Amino acid sequence: MADKRVAIIGAGSSGAGWGNGKATAVLFAREGAKVLCVDRVAQAAEETAALIRKEGGIAETAVADVSDPDAGGQVADRAKSLWGGLDVLDYNVGISQQGGVLETTDADWDRVFDINLTGALRMTRAVLPLMRAQGSGSLIYVSSLAAVYSAPYSYVSYEVSKMALVRFARSVAHENASYQIRSNVILPGVIDTPHVTAFVDSKTDPEELAARRAAMVPMGRQGSAWDVAKAALFLGSDDSAYITGESLKVDGGLTA
Ligand SMILES: NC(=O)c1ccc[n+]([C@@H]2O[C@H](COP(=O)([O-])OP(=O)(O)OC[C@H]3O[C@@H](n4cnc5c(N)ncnc54)[C@H](O)[C@@H]3O)[C@@H](O)[C@H]2O)c1
Repeated sequence: MADKRVAIIGAGSSGAGWGNGKATAVLFAREGAKVLCVDRVAQAAEETAALIRKEGGIAETAVADVSDPDAGGQVADRAKSLWGGLDVLDYNVGISQQGGVLETTDADWDRVFDINLTGALRMTRAVLPLMRAQGSGSLIYVSSLAAVYSAPYSYVSYEVSKMALVRFARSVAHENASYQIRSNVILPGVIDTPHVTAFVDSKTDPEELAARRAAMVPMGRQGSAWDVAKAALFLGSDDSAYITGESLKVDGGLTA
């Protein structure tokens, strides 16, 4: 990844510990990439960038909310002014809303789709001209196993938006292969991140929850943000130069 220019969208973590975006940003930097840490929360982006710089890596930050129609343009402009282009975009932002069909309001549905899917369109539309001009690029979308696997609880807006993101990644791959731009999607399974802790209510015992989540997985453990980061590193690097339109499950055998 030496000297590759990477933007991680959702590069912070919603709580203490390692979220998928934070681990991915740090791992790319460890491999020599220059990383633009983009987040809605300035402090979250700064925290990840500070970790990278502390290890001697190169990191910049940008504050952008993917629900803002101008967010994509902000990121593309920043990458262009910093480095003259962008080699990898990792769209890691995703929110979830509990509830099945009967509980899901139009407003819930629209909010989840806006962040999980439309945000990806905004970012992609903005960075593609840079990648097309340079004739290279790798787009990585963090979906979820929820796209293809039904959990014991319902969160239909999340499941459907994450499935749509899988199809979006394939459409982007198809449209852009002739420009040598690749587009792939990661489907993390049961991953131990702060996002999950924030998702459960205050009555849930965290240890009991962790044990229950681990027991769901044939490997007997939850994945970590580093498992997701390593998949992103592969898809962002030239090691996956001939792989596009692919969905990579990181699930410890949950769907095996
Ligand atoms: N943890 C799991 O078990 C699991 C499983 C499957 C998929 N995923 C997916 O992994 C991805 C990231 O997980 P994570 O643990 O890093 O998440 P996280 O909740 O820690 O969020 C990462 C960052 O995204 C930022 N963010 C949130 N909304 C934003 C917005 N509108 N604009 C810009 N930034 C925003 C947050 O501030 C945070 O710093 C999500 O897409 C999630 O759906 C997680």
